[in-house]
Amino acid sequence: MGPLKSSRWGSPWRVLHAVLFLSLCFALATSGAVQALRFRADGTFKILQIADMHYENGEQTPCSDIPESWEATCSDLNTTSFVQRLIASEDPDLIVFSGDNIMSGSLDAVASMNAAFAPAIDAGKPWAAVLGNHDQEADLDRLGVIAYASGLPMTLTKLNPGCHVASDCKPVKGNFSINGRQVSQDFRQCVSDGPSEDLPVAFRCGVGASKGPAAAAGAAEQQVGGVSPGLLPVVEGWGNYHLVVNGPLGSKSESRVAAVLYLLDSGDYTKLPDIGKYDWIRPGQQLWMKSVAAQLMALVVDGEDAPIGLAYFHIPVPEFERAWESSAKTGVKQEVVSSAVVNSGFFTAMLETQHIKASFVGHDHINDYCGSFRGMKLCYAGGTGYHAYGKVGWPRRARVVLLRMGEGVVGSERNSQVEEIWSWKRLDDGVGHDGMSDIDRELLWGKGVDVEGSGTSAESGPGTEQDELDMPGYDNAGDMPDGPNEEMHAVGSLGS
Ligand SMILES: *[C@@H]1O[C@H](CO)[C@@H](O)[C@H](O)[C@H]1NC(C)=O
Ligand SMILES: *[C@@H]1O[C@H](CO)[C@@H](O)[C@H](O)[C@H]1NC(C)=O
Repeated sequence: MGPLKSSRWGSPWRVLHAVLFLSLCFALATSGAVQALRFRADGTFKILQIADMHYENGEQTPCSDIPESWEATCSDLNTTSFVQRLIASEDPDLIVFSGDNIMSGSLDAVASMNAAFAPAIDAGKPWAAVLGNHDQEADLDRLGVIAYASGLPMTLTKLNPGCHVASDCKPVKGNFSINGRQVSQDFRQCVSDGPSEDLPVAFRCGVGASKGPAAAAGAAEQQVGGVSPGLLPVVEGWGNYHLVVNGPLGSKSESRVAAVLYLLDSGDYTKLPDIGKYDWIRPGQQLWMKSVAAQLMALVVDGEDAPIGLAYFHIPVPEFERAWESSAKTGVKQEVVSSAVVNSGFFTAMLETQHIKASFVGHDHINDYCGSFRGMKLCYAGGTGYHAYGKVGWPRRARVVLLRMGEGVVGSERNSQVEEIWSWKRLDDGVGHDGMSDIDRELLWGKGVDVEGSGTSAESGPGTEQDELDMPGYDNAGDMPDGPNEEMHAVGSLGS
């Protein structure tokens, strides 16, 4: 079972912890290794994004920004319940926890993670996590959090390129000769530190730790431009990895990559003394992402489409502000875009891959919009966690993304590449199917469809046939309220 530690928490929590522990073991015993990701026979692949759970100590952790009358009964366990219901209702193929999964008040990071990720593990669903800016605030640093998460059942979380689990990645002291002078620096080296299954080139597996003696000793965070003095590129941070999704069995893309997800560590806080607040996705991470993209693009043979790329990370890039100005937006913006105050060029790096169509973040809990900028969709999930700050009367929510090839790709000569990317949000508001409103359903990207210029919601969608825009299994589009009033409407219906 790995490094599960005994809980220091009170007795109701102990019981829950024990139950969660048993369910983890059960999941381990029954599910075994995670299957490779692939589209379903109906040509779809669905991703549920859970943003900002801010999970701490279960029943002992109160909720934030809820109506007063809920206070007596609301805790982290309501977040657990919401995530369980989302999984049951959406039946996703992959769950992405997009950071700030746990936070500062956690008495035990391992216990918090066990509880926070339990709904995915219990449901036997593959899941992947990235770090936010709060995950290291309990008793594990950023490396420790990702290392633990990467060892849990059903997870596809990896430490970093070439270093998938903690034991792959060893601290070493590098000795370099620069202009005849000996220089020594601490870093972490992958077991092989050569080209790996992931990468055509070698990367240092990561740098330092974010706190404790390792951080103090390592010059880690002072890396210049993603390069160590030894001139091997360094992938900054922890939990940078990619996941490929193959086409359905029996389709033309059965053994080809139809979609790729890039998951990145957007850091916590700036390491430059005069630059305020949040960190940014660094050059080494960008180089790594582009090298993976180049490798995937090189595999595309004439006449085929390139795989569709999606990126998931925690802190928005500054371009989210521009996306809100687009005419093709859905959702709401109720707080500023809390990106880094400088632009590290990650948005441009995504464009340069030429196959990333959309990116998804959390961090700003009461923004949940998707907007277009330079042909890319930039989307917030909106906060899922009850302990995380929110807005009274504005339901907690989660974002769903559906990649769709269309039906009939199995056993046919039909092109089995992704043709559409859909998204919508589910609200914990007691309304709609399974008690969770389904709002802002939209086409984020469609092959040959202009999603930048004007509205692309299911209602309008220019240049696309209405028939093709009808989502299978969702018959209530016409009933969906839209615009800002939707929120108050949904809350009003809760009636509590
Ligand atoms: C939280 O969970 C409790 C116990 O199931 C329930 O009574 C309460 O209504 C929930 N609160 C919210 C806001 O969902
Ligand atoms: C670096 O130099 C130190 C001191 O000379 C030595 O102990 C260490 O093994 C060297 N490390 C590497 C990776 O060569």
